[in-house]
Order: sequence, then C-alpha cells, then structure tokens
Amino acid sequence: MRLLIVSNRLPVALTHRSGEFFLEKSAGGLVSGLSDYLASLEKTASDISDYGWLGWPGISVKKRHREVVREKINSNFKAEPVFLSQKLMDKVYLGFCNKTIWPLFHYFPTYTVYDREYWEQYKRVNQIFRDELLSVIRSDDIIWIHDYHLMLLPELLREKVANPIGFFLHIPFPTYEIFRLLPDESRCGILNGLLGSDLIGFHTHDYSQYFLRCVLRILGHEHHMGSIGMPGRVVRVDTFPMGIDYKKFNRFITTDAQPGIPSNDCQRMVLSVDRLDYSKGILNRLKGFEMFLQQNPEWHGKVCLSMVVVPSRTGVDSYQEIKRGLDELVGYINGAYGNLDWMPVIYQYKSLPHETLISLYRSCDVALLTPLRDGMNLVAKEYVASRNDKKGVLILSEFTGAVKELSESIIVNSNSVDEIASAIVQALEMPDDEQIRRNEAMQHRLERYDVTRWATDFVGALNEIREVSEYTFTKKYLSREKRERLVNEYQNAEKRLIIVNYDGTLVPLTDEPDRARPSNELLELIQGIKEQTSPDIVILSGRSKEDLQKWIGDMPVSLTAENGSWLREFGSECWTQLKPLTGEWKKDILPILETYTDRLPGASIREKEYSISWHYHKSDIEQSSFLAKELYDHLVNITATIDIQVFHGSKVLEISSSGINKGDLARHWLNNRNYDFILAIGAGWSDELLFRSLPGNAWSVKVGMTHTEAKYIISNQQKVITLLEMLKK
Ligand code: UDP
Ligand code: G6P
Repeated sequence: MRLLIVSNRLPVALTHRSGEFFLEKSAGGLVSGLSDYLASLEKTASDISDYGWLGWPGISVKKRHREVVREKINSNFKAEPVFLSQKLMDKVYLGFCNKTIWPLFHYFPTYTVYDREYWEQYKRVNQIFRDELLSVIRSDDIIWIHDYHLMLLPELLREKVANPIGFFLHIPFPTYEIFRLLPDESRCGILNGLLGSDLIGFHTHDYSQYFLRCVLRILGHEHHMGSIGMPGRVVRVDTFPMGIDYKKFNRFITTDAQPGIPSNDCQRMVLSVDRLDYSKGILNRLKGFEMFLQQNPEWHGKVCLSMVVVPSRTGVDSYQEIKRGLDELVGYINGAYGNLDWMPVIYQYKSLPHETLISLYRSCDVALLTPLRDGMNLVAKEYVASRNDKKGVLILSEFTGAVKELSESIIVNSNSVDEIASAIVQALEMPDDEQIRRNEAMQHRLERYDVTRWATDFVGALNEIREVSEYTFTKKYLSREKRERLVNEYQNAEKRLIIVNYDGTLVPLTDEPDRARPSNELLELIQGIKEQTSPDIVILSGRSKEDLQKWIGDMPVSLTAENGSWLREFGSECWTQLKPLTGEWKKDILPILETYTDRLPGASIREKEYSISWHYHKSDIEQSSFLAKELYDHLVNITATIDIQVFHGSKVLEISSSGINKGDLARHWLNNRNYDFILAIGAGWSDELLFRSLPGNAWSVKVGMTHTEAKYIISNQQKVITLLEMLKK
C-alpha cells in the first residue's frame, strides 16, 4: 500500500531569487518528524511499499511557472505541489490558520482574529486540496492528513473516496471553553470535518479528551472509550506522542568545527532553539535569563545563552512585533551585563541544518525551552537524544506536549520568570551523576517510542479501525441484495413471525414521549401486512399497556408493555403476565430518581405499574450523560439483592421487575410454534437480548450503525418502514 501524506507544507519550501526557483528545507516539527520517518521507510521493510506527499510549496507561483516548479519538485522528491494564489494564502495561511486557529489553539484568545472571509476561504483551500488529492489518489492509498490547515479535508474526501483516512493534529487541541469561542459555523465545521477521518490522533491524552468533550458538547456525539459511532463507520480518537529519529541524533558523528556554531569563551552554555513564535515564550525566557544574571553575579562572564531563532510567518503582524521585542531585549541584556570579553546572549536569526544543531545540542550544558504553549516540542527530545555522553540538563515548560515523556527534566511554569531564573541555577549546579541518571531514563523512553514507532502505530491503528468499521458495517449492512433475499424467504415461508420494537423502530425517537403516536400510514401498513401475508406480529415496548391499548389496541398484533411485564396476545382482549410481578420496590427507588431529577434540569420520571423510566432527552448532554451513568451505577448497586432490572437505553433508564426481558418474551413466542421465518427488528440496548435468543435461521436487524448482536443493521428508522413495505407486496 502507498502512504499519501497531505500537509499544508511540503518538506521543501520554494524560494524565488533573481528569476530562479530554489528549494530549501521547510521549518517546523511536522516536516522534520515526517521527513525522518519517510527516510526510515526507505531503509527498512514495512507494509508501506511507497509514499507520496502533497502540499503547498510555500510561495505563490504564477500560472506560467507552475509546470517548471512541479517538475523541479517531482524530480527531487516524491511530492506534488498544491498551488495557491496570493489572495488565498493571505486569507487562509496568514489569516484563518495563523491569525485564528494558531493563537486560539495555543490559548492566546486576545491575538485571535475572527473574520468571516478567512473562514470562507479556508473552506475553499480545503476543497482545492481535496480536488488535487482526487487527481492522484489510488485505491490502495492510505491517506494521512496533517495539522490545523486541513481540518475540513477528511470530511470533504470521505464524500468522494473509500480509502482509509487518518488525521493528526500537531498543535494542542484546546479545552471546550477556548474552542467554543469560534463562531458556530466554523466550530461545527471543524469538528465535522475532522470526524470524516477513520482515526484522529493527538500528541497527548489531554488534547484527545478536550476534543472528545467538544464533540459531545457541540455536536452531541457521545464516545465509548474514544470511539464515536458515525453513520456506517466508527471514528477512533487516540493519543500518539510524536517521536524523533532517536538513532540519527544519538549516533551522529560530530565533526569538530560545525559552521554556524558560534565560538565563545564562556565556560558554560545555555541553549535555546525555536521558530520565532509568541507561543514559544522566547521573551519570558530572556527575562528569566536576565533575572538569573541579576541575582547571580558570580556567574557573570562564565555563562552564555546561545539563541537560535528560526524566522517564521513574517507576514503576520504579531510575529513581527515579537521580533522587535526580541531584538530590543537581546540588545538591552548584552549592553547592561556584557563587556568586551563576554557577550551574555549570542543570537542567531536563521535556520540551522540538523548536523549543526546536533553539535550545538552536544556543546551546550543546558537546554532552556520554555514555550507558553506547544503541541509537542521536538527540540526538547532532540536535545536529550543527542547527548550520547548522557550529560546535559533540560529545562522544559510544563505547557509542552513533550513534558509528558520528559518528566525527568527540570519542569518550569514558563509564565514565571523567577522559576526560569532558579531553574538555570539548579541546572548549572546539577552534579554529573544526576544529569546522567535523568537523561538515561528519558533516552530510554525516546529510543523506544521514536518517530518510526509513532507513525507505524498510527498507520496500524488506522488499518485496524477500518477493519472494525468494515466488519461491523459493510458486512452486516442490510443491503438491497440482502433485503431482497429476506423478502424472498418471507414470501416462500408458511409460518411467519415478525417481532418489532416500537420506539425508534416503528416510530422515530422523540424528545416528547407522548408524541410517539403511530401515524395512520403506519397503522395501515401493519394492517396491510397482516391481511396480505398473515404473519404473527408482535410489538415490543417499554410503554404502559394503557398507551399501547390506546394507540395500537385495534391492530391485528400481539402486544407487550412495560418491557415484558404485560402481554396481550392477538385475538384476546386481556392483558396477562408471564409471571406474577410486584411493584413493591418502586417506593424505594422513586426517591432516588427524584433526587437525580432535581439535580438534572429537563429530566423526568414516568411511573408505570411494574416499571419506572427516567428520561433525560431534554437535559444538557454532558451533564446528563455523566449523571445518568452515576444513577445507573447507583441503581445497579442497590438493586443487586432485589428482583428488579435496570436498562440504560437511548437517553432513558428503565427500571423494571426482573425475570422478564425481551429474550424471555421471544422464547415465549417461539415456543412450540414452528415458525419457518422469523424477523426481529429493534433499536435499543434491551433488544440485544432479543437478538441473542433467536434461532440461527432468524433475521435479526438492528436500527442504527452501532455494534450489535443482530446479524444485520440498517441505518435509520425510516428504513424499517421501507423494509416492512417490501413485505406487504
Ligand atoms: N530545527 C531545524 N533547524 C533549526 C531549528 C530547528 O531544523 O535551526 C528543527 C528542529 O530540529 C525540530 C523542528 O525544527 O525538529 C522544530 O520542531 P518543534 O516541534 O520543536 O517546534 P515547531 O517549530 O514545530 O513548533
Ligand atoms: C508547526 C506546525 C506545522 C508548521 C510548522 C512551521 O510545527 O504544527 O504545521 O508547518 O509549525 O510553520 P509554517 O507556518 O512555517 O508552516
């Protein structure tokens, strides 16, 4: 299979000087990590036989030059450029991506610009990427989309192709309170866009949880252990902390003189490496270094801070401001503290190749990395990995994704200049044996979970979730061909049974239980089936016998009410019981339900003779799903010794006298009646017991694309009616 990487940036950035095009390495962790992974694919055997990369070349290219540029890129890399006009780049790359999403997702709401036009053009760029992809995609491709520039692409692509689609976010996913600041159209659009994937990956468990919470609160989709059921498929949300090419950094042989490494007379060096970005906390870091100098004159002349600052997003105002602030502060510190023999801050504003960086990592006693927020921070991992002498001290911000795996570093709150200053002292004074002890532990982790393992795990999980989806949905789906087979068997049978659930199966689920009366069309349909093909029809329901009597009492069917507590056989006027039941227990349970009803606005209790249901359709989705689980556990615990059962249905808890469930009912109807055709259709959790109790030749059909014991599934309640109509003819 071929792995198609799709990201805003290609591994190479195009530049245009004196009428000529040049290719340079792109900056940033995404390109850095993925390039190392793809390079490793070429060296080792794997399921992935080939790869390709689709992305933007970094500048706008006039139409007449596009073919030349395409050829230049194609001949150097397995990459396809996606060309975007200057206007689109301004509105989307500089606009929606780097003035809206980047600041917001990094918890800088005050830098966030909300502009409708940015959003409109973001949709457009995602469509352009989709169209470019469609022109190169093959049926054996696995599509792996990266980062916040392309969050709508999974859904756009899903509408067109059946290939596995994975998405990985390289930046933090923020909490609900931050994410919800986006206007409704864009926040829903982004979540729906991402849910077009089969697998969505984040760097940390927190980001995954924040995403799942936003999906629940904003779209109302619940998840089960990170899996979200979407029509016809499962979307998995999981955590994959991105690693680095450990061996490359650890085993690299450094030559003595590396161009780009500043020579200095300092005894001790503190290193700082980042793109020039306000999220990286570079100014705070400098302030922390200044405070260190102020408080520790004994270190003057002995310590230098070597800062590598990589130019980034210079077209965004906030980035230019930070550059000005940085230049001023470096000038101030060097002026105030330095002298002819000692310059406290050595500052390089450029990107260094990995070979030079590794030498720098090895020659610096301390790495000081203090982002205010960072999805991962690969530089921290690279510093630790490069130290093949096992020495060196890492000072790392608690607001990075990397800190989860680098817990032996000196962890600081990067908002606190004092903490940064004292961490520098602690690092400079740390004995060698302690440095070695800490680095060994971190290196062990980084070596095990390197970038290849990260990508292999992601692709493996993507294939796995596709298999689950295919098994659950494609194989079980009651396709037209299967429906025709069912009807054919039905017509050729002599003694037929149809068992069908009421709510969510014969009638749609509604927030207002009293509105679920059957329509005249439905009543005519049931009547018609009975008259034309004379099956036994059994309608199962959790409703009271009064409701059923009133609504469908005249139909030529058998009825069961209160989840089996009552039944009324076709031809009889009387409601009877399969076994004597008691409602004595209700007086103990009702006060508990009332307490929970008080705690949850919108919840309501419906009391029947031998059962009670607790509905929460109208309540706040997050609060209710939490409280309903709590109530369910509570009820299950206290009812362990009494003869009642608790079912958790769709936004309802059903508590009823035990001993009778839908499985028992099915057995009752099947007993000695020799049906040669059985069809059972249900939508709820309690119908699983019905499906399980049926003989092997029965047709069991679940409504809704979820996991089920039924042999078949259909997508929605309307399809049940279509199926029943086919039986009539
Ligand atoms: N990097 C580089 N040259 C430099 C500075 C950084 O190649 O002069 C690389 C660095 O090795 C790392 C990446 O850029 O792999 C930065 O990734 P990180 O996750 O730390 O930050 P990002 O830029 O993605 O926010
Ligand atoms: C971060 C983002 C990447 C991005 C990189 C460089 O690592 O997660 O998607 O490519 O920064 O930023 P740039 O705007 O130059 O692509």
